[in-house]
Amino acid sequence: MIKYTVEEGIANVSWNMEGYPMNVLNDQSISAFKEAMEKAIADSEVKGITISSEKDSFIAGADLKMLQKLTVENTDMKTTFENTKVFNMLFRKFETCGKPIVACINGHALGGGFEVCLMSHYRIAVNNPKTKIGLPESKIGLLPGAGGTQRLPRMVGLEIAAPLLLEGTELSPENALKQGLINELVASKEEMFAAAKKWILANLSPLQAWDERDKKGNIVGKTNFKVPNGNIQSPKGAQLLLPGTALLMGKTYGNYPAQLAIMKAVYEGLQVPIDKALVIESRYFTSLLINPVAKNMIRTLFFAIGDANKGIARPKNVPETNLKKIGILGAGMMGSGIAYVSALAGLEVVLKDTTLENAERSSGVYGKEYSRNLLKSQVAKGRYSQEQAEGILAKIKPTDNYEDLKGCDLIIEAVFENRELKAKVTKDAEAQIAETAVFGSNTSTLPITGLSEASARPANFIGIHFFSPVDKMPLVEVIMGKQTSDYALAMTIDYIKKIKKTPIVVNDSRGFYTSRCFGTYTAEGMEMLAEGINPILIENAGKAAGMPVGSLDVADAVSIELAYKVMKQSEIDTGVKMEHIAGGKVVKHFVETLGRGGKVSKKGFYEYPEGGKKYLWEGLSEQYPLKSEQPNIEFLKKRLLHRQALETVRCLEEGVLRSKADADVGSILAWGFPAYTGGTLSYIDMVGVAQFVKDCDELAATYGERFSPTARLREMAANGESFYGVKK
Ligand SMILES: NC(=O)c1ccc[n+]([C@@H]2O[C@H](COP(=O)([O-])OP(=O)(O)OC[C@H]3O[C@@H](n4cnc5c(N)ncnc54)[C@H](O)[C@@H]3O)[C@@H](O)[C@H]2O)c1
Repeated sequence: MIKYTVEEGIANVSWNMEGYPMNVLNDQSISAFKEAMEKAIADSEVKGITISSEKDSFIAGADLKMLQKLTVENTDMKTTFENTKVFNMLFRKFETCGKPIVACINGHALGGGFEVCLMSHYRIAVNNPKTKIGLPESKIGLLPGAGGTQRLPRMVGLEIAAPLLLEGTELSPENALKQGLINELVASKEEMFAAAKKWILANLSPLQAWDERDKKGNIVGKTNFKVPNGNIQSPKGAQLLLPGTALLMGKTYGNYPAQLAIMKAVYEGLQVPIDKALVIESRYFTSLLINPVAKNMIRTLFFAIGDANKGIARPKNVPETNLKKIGILGAGMMGSGIAYVSALAGLEVVLKDTTLENAERSSGVYGKEYSRNLLKSQVAKGRYSQEQAEGILAKIKPTDNYEDLKGCDLIIEAVFENRELKAKVTKDAEAQIAETAVFGSNTSTLPITGLSEASARPANFIGIHFFSPVDKMPLVEVIMGKQTSDYALAMTIDYIKKIKKTPIVVNDSRGFYTSRCFGTYTAEGMEMLAEGINPILIENAGKAAGMPVGSLDVADAVSIELAYKVMKQSEIDTGVKMEHIAGGKVVKHFVETLGRGGKVSKKGFYEYPEGGKKYLWEGLSEQYPLKSEQPNIEFLKKRLLHRQALETVRCLEEGVLRSKADADVGSILAWGFPAYTGGTLSYIDMVGVAQFVKDCDELAATYGERFSPTARLREMAANGESFYGVKK
C-alpha cells in the first residue's frame, strides 16, 4: 500500500495500492498511511516528510465503495459521526506534528487526495495539463469531509474556494498554482523531490497560516485568524455568502443538500479556530452521508455509469471487435454530430448524403462543415493543436456514393425519419458492406424490428439512438430488435466505448425507453394546461422538482409538430386515436387549429420574438381558462415526477428495460430526470414504494389509468420490498 523510505533525513511516504488503478482512501490504505506517517513523526532522525505516489496519479479520492458502505450501513447519526471524525482528527494530528510535510503531486489529486495535500504544509505539482486537482465531492451529494471545507477557504479566500467547493471544479496544475491551491510547479518528478527537499530544509518548524504556538510551544488553531481577502463577517465575506445562498437556492431549489451543507460548514467553521471548525465539518458531512441523496447519486452517477462505461452490457462471448471504419448515412443534424465524435475517437468516417454538396456543406451548418467548425473552436480554446485538428478532420470523407462504404465495420443511418427511405438506404448500404458489418439505425421512434425487415441480415441490425447535440449528450440508447445478435450488440458497445459515451441497452418497443418516459413529462404538463392550471406554475413546478426546464418549454424545444407526427404514426400503427392519449388533445389543437408547432416555427406554448427573450404565449389563458383554485406546487411536482417514474416501472415490467441501472442512468442522462434522486427507480425508493403506490392510487382516482400502479408495484408495497433494498 505504502512504500516507506528515508533518505538524508527525509522520509518519503509513497502511495502504491496494489490491485487498484489509482490510489484511493479506504480503510486499508488509511491505516497503512497512518502507520507510515506515525513512524516518520516518531523517528528523531527524520527532519521532514514527503507524501507522494508510485502511480501515474497522486490520490484520486475516497474509495466510493467505502463511502457507499458508510451511507448504506450507517443511518445512525452518532456512529456515522464518530466514523467520519476519525479522518479529520488524523489529518489534524499530522498537520500539527511539528515536522514539515510536503505533498508531491505527480498526477490527479482529487477529493480526499487533495485534502491530504491541504493538510500538508507545502504543495508541489508536476506540470502535466492532464492532471486534475480539486474537490469534486459536491457532485455526488457529499462535501469534502477531511478538512477541505475549512482549509481551502483559509488558504485561498472565500471567492476562490466557493466555486471549487460548491461546483467541484477541477483545475490543471497551472490553474491550481494561479489560484493558490499549490505552491510550486515543476517539470518532472525528479525536480519535484529536489524542490521538496529544499523547502523542508528551509522550513524545519512549519506552521499553517491558521495555527499558532501557545505558551508551552504546542501548535493550536488561531482564535483570530483572518481569511485571505475578507473574513466571513467582513462586508466582502457577507457579500459572497448571503446572495450566494439565495443564488444557490434559485439554482437548485433546495434539492441538493450538499451545496447547502458546504455553505453552512464554511460559514460556521470560519468563525472558530480550526479544531472546532473540523468538528463542524464532520457534523455536516455526517448529515450528508445519512441523506438518501448521496446514496442515490453515488449508486447511479458513479457505480452504474461506471459499469455501463466499462461495458457491463457487452456479451462476454464475443471477442473484441476492433472496429476501424464507420459509415454514416445522412449528414444532417444527427449524422454530422456522429461523424464528429467518431473522427475524434480516431475512426475512419465515411459521411454519405444524397449529394456531395450536402455531405460537405462547406457553406452550411451540418455535413463535414459541422466538424470543421467545432474543431476550430477547440483549437481556439487550446484543446487541440491546428495539426491535430486537421488530422481529425481528414478522417471524415464526405461522399454521395454508396461504394465508399466498402470496408466499413459499422454503418449508422441518420436519414429522415421515414420508414420507406430508411428501408431503401439499408438495402443500398448493405449491398456494399461485408456480411460481418453491423447496421445501426438512429431512429428516435420507429421500432427496430420493423426496420430490420428491410435488412438481408437482421441479426446484424440494431438501434443506436443518439441524443442531440451529439457532441455534448453523454448517453446512447442501444435498442435490440427481435433478431439482433450478441455480435451486433458487442460491436455497438465497443463503438460507444471508443467514442467515450455511456450506453444503456433496451429491448424494442414504441418510443423505446427514453422517448417514452420523457414524453410523459411533456404530456403531463400539457394535461395540466388543459385543466386550467396556470402555465407559470406548471413550469415552476417542473424546475422546482429538479427538471432542467419546464415541461411546456421542453415540449416547444423538441417541437409540438414532431410530437404530432409521432402521435399520428402511432395512431396508424396501433389504432388508438391521439385524443385518447395524454397530451394528445393539446398537441392536436396546437398543430391543427392554432398552427403553433413549437420553437422551430417560432410559436408554440411560448412566443419567440426576434432578438428578444422567449415568454409564455399570452393566448394560452384564452385557449385554456385558468381554474379559480390553483393546486399547490408540491402536488404538481409530485405529479410530474411520479408520472415519469411509473412509466419507467412499466418499461421494466414489460421487458423494455433490461436492468434497473439502465433505467436510472438513462433517465438522468437522456432527459434530465433530477440527479439528486439517483434516477427514476431510485426516486421511488426515496419516496418509499408503499407511499408511491398510495400516491399513484390517489392520482389515478382523479386523472385516470395513466397513474394506476402496476400489480408488481402493489406486491412490492405489500411485501415491504424496494428496488435497491432500501428500507422505508
Ligand atoms: N433531431 C434529433 O434530436 C434526433 C435525435 C435522435 C434521433 N434522431 C433521428 O435521427 C435521424 C436524422 O435526424 P436529423 O435530425 O439529423 O435529420 P436531418 O433532417 O437534419 O438530416 C437528415 C439528413 O439525411 C439526408 N438524407 C436523406 N436521404 C438520404 C439518402 N438517401 N442517403 C443519405 N442521406 C440522406 C438529408 O439530406 C439530411 O441531410 C432521424 O431518424 C431522427 O428521428 C433525431
